[in-house]
Amino acid sequence: MNSLQIQFREQICDRHSQIDLYQLQELFNISAFWAKGRSIEDLGIAVANSDPVIFVCNGEQLIGFARATSDGIYRATIWDVVIHPKYRGTGLGSKLIKTILNHPRLKCVERVYVMTTCQQGFYEKIGFQPNSSTTMVLHRQSKLDSVTTEEVQLQESIVG
Ligand SMILES: CC(C)(COP(=O)(O)OP(=O)(O)OC[C@H]1O[C@@H](n2cnc3c(N)ncnc32)[C@H](O)[C@@H]1OP(=O)(O)O)[C@@H](O)C(=O)NCCC(=O)NCCS
Repeated sequence: MNSLQIQFREQICDRHSQIDLYQLQELFNISAFWAKGRSIEDLGIAVANSDPVIFVCNGEQLIGFARATSDGIYRATIWDVVIHPKYRGTGLGSKLIKTILNHPRLKCVERVYVMTTCQQGFYEKIGFQPNSSTTMVLHRQSKLDSVTTEEVQLQESIVG
């Protein structure tokens, strides 16, 4: 890892994106079953409306991403956490989450949520606790045309 040029960067929360949305789309396509097939336009909207947006680069290559939405005091939710498969298991995911949690926008928030299908152990190591009793969801028109039925069912099982 010492020979790599790992950098944590923050997206300035406006519509002039610093992050390469094409690389983000590719990272999701290879690493995030719930975020496959997202369009560049929609990714730009999600990034512009999230704060903070933290991403990890090795040189110019995007290798990690996470974003959060928050009211700044009571509640926040972390979304779309992903580390490129080649770079997993070296502490980057944990550092990414800690960077989000310590961000000025989130560090005073009373409760921080994350929804996860199978990474509970990863979040528990950072201090999150299981919380199966409070989450509900309203399914509206989705943009899942390019996602398989199996993946949709898996997504629904997150909140089912
Ligand atoms: C989940 C993910 C972000 C973790 O990133 P990572 O860089 O591999 O994680 P780290 O190397 O920082 O792991 C930190 C610790 O958590 C542990 N850990 C990682 N994933 C775990 C899991 N699923 N269950 C239990 N422990 C886990 C590691 O062994 C490590 O333990 P240690 O501190 O004792 O050495 C990465 O596996 C990933 O991108 N997965 C695919 C996308 C995904 O599922 N994202 C989560 C959506 S909610």
